[in-house]
Amino acid sequence: MAQVITFGNFKGGVGKTTSSVMFAYILQEQGYKTLLVDLDPQANSTSFLANTFEVSLNNFVSIYEAMEMEDLSKAVLSMSANLDLLPSAVDLVKFGDLLNQKNKGHAGNKHYYFDYLLGELKDNYDFVIIDVPPTISENTNNALVASNYSLIIMQSEPDSLAGAIDFNDYIKGMKQFNPDLEVLGVLPYLVNKRSKIDEYILEKSLSEDLNIKDLVFKSHIYERERVKRFRINGITSSNNRDFHDKKTLKMYEKVVKEFLKRMDEK
Ligand SMILES: Nc1ncnc2c1ncn2[C@@H]1O[C@H](COP(=O)(O)OP(=O)(O)O)[C@@H](O)[C@H]1O
Ligand SMILES: [Mg+2]
Repeated sequence: MAQVITFGNFKGGVGKTTSSVMFAYILQEQGYKTLLVDLDPQANSTSFLANTFEVSLNNFVSIYEAMEMEDLSKAVLSMSANLDLLPSAVDLVKFGDLLNQKNKGHAGNKHYYFDYLLGELKDNYDFVIIDVPPTISENTNNALVASNYSLIIMQSEPDSLAGAIDFNDYIKGMKQFNPDLEVLGVLPYLVNKRSKIDEYILEKSLSEDLNIKDLVFKSHIYERERVKRFRINGITSSNNRDFHDKKTLKMYEKVVKEFLKRMDEK
């Protein structure tokens, strides 16, 4: 059975989309059957992944259309042998209205609709990774209800720390709808080794605010120019990688390794 993970923080621009795509990419390279679900109407992970695998987005069934038809499999787009995508488009802004119409799933509660549809589809995968918008919305609620874990992305900036803390509290509240939901960890993102403020924020989060010392990943993601280039040109394929590509992928691979280890230890 698949492990379903939502990457979260109630703030934009902290690296949720980049992380979910890099994780999905690395997991499929390592032979894990992976599904990336784009639940953000901005569709950034959809374009990042399609760009990486040179898959055309001229004609596809969006995740919203598939949910309207009550069959997610209709939207599954193959990226590689081990990686599928449920692509998003701007029509996903209508998700809230769709839920009001459908009112399906467990106990007729609209938080359960995506989980209900993901149903048997998830048996095809080892991992299902969900990218969500940075707002409290039915998209996030539906993602969390369908998830075993959430990975909180924490940029070492005051606003993002607050976003991470809010997200952690929010997950506690969502447990009434999904008692199995657990925080897998908090991933420190774009930590600048030389910055005093970054160190201070990380320290602070470790001690008082989050009170979840054990949850903070030992491995971190740092700022790298190459990540920005990946977003424009796609992730460089294994036969074309230069020094910077390799270094950047190594950084994410290290975090994915810790992610797998933490899940193993659960
Ligand atoms: N490790 C990194 N190094 C440098 N830039 C990054 C890194 N990760 C993400 N970014 C950049 O940060 C911006 C926000 O990232 P994104 O993943 O879209 O955040 P979110 O999904 O949380 O809004 C993007 O422009 C992306 O290119
Ligand atoms: Mg995003």
